[in-house]
Amino acid sequence: MSTTRRGGRYSLDTFRHEALDEVTSTNTECLARARQGDPGNLWVTARRQTAGRGRRGRAWTSETGNLYASLLLIDPAPPEQLASLPLAVALAVHGALRSVLPQSAEKLEIKWPNDVLIGRKKSCGILLEGEGLADGRRALVAGIGINMRHRPEDGPYGVTSLQEQGCDISPEELFSHLYREMTEVLNLWDEGRAVADVTARWRSVACGIGEPIRVNLPDRSIEGRFAGIDDRGLLILDTGNAMMPIAAGDVFFL
Ligand code: BTN
Repeated sequence: MSTTRRGGRYSLDTFRHEALDEVTSTNTECLARARQGDPGNLWVTARRQTAGRGRRGRAWTSETGNLYASLLLIDPAPPEQLASLPLAVALAVHGALRSVLPQSAEKLEIKWPNDVLIGRKKSCGILLEGEGLADGRRALVAGIGINMRHRPEDGPYGVTSLQEQGCDISPEELFSHLYREMTEVLNLWDEGRAVADVTARWRSVACGIGEPIRVNLPDRSIEGRFAGIDDRGLLILDTGNAMMPIAAGDVFFL
């Protein structure tokens, strides 16, 4: 990744890191620290999670051998500037994986909004959770799970692991790349001010722009052509009749 520095709010020394053995969930651990008054910029990693969480209330199986990492940020940006943070986090994971995957690995891309795919198969999960704290601060946790030695069975989409892609490094080594990439990306993001730069970089590694897709929304599914993302990071679905901006949903390539 380039060393673009904007706000320069973050450097490698900004962050603390606690490496734990077993936790329920690194996201839960970060939120608990925030409630206890932690000032933020804290990474929590664990070798194993007993109650890892995925999106939409799904469980995230968390055996030893994969990376489980959460970053606690406190008031990282004004609330109206936070929408692009999931795209920025995906860029950091993408950069970390690009640093460690061998040439022989399949194509590394991001599926909207923040699934990092290798050969169109899911290699990681990202779960952002926010909470208003009693003292008026807002905690934001970016939780990242990367399939390294283990992966779940294929579900509605394909799944892969770094080991299957010819990369057999340790979670600790991968975390050092993620730590560096996240620092860079947070500076590029510039507290949400540089959303256009983040979306431009996101588009350069996007999966499937121009292809037919189905988007599952909470109440219905819509099909159309993936026209790209706008400068706020919303997915633009070309339904044939209109260009429809979508803020949240699960995307499937048809
Ligand atoms: C998804 O469903 O794709 C998101 C999965 C996010 C899993 C990670 S593992 C580290 C962090 N702790 C959790 O409990 N969840 C996230």
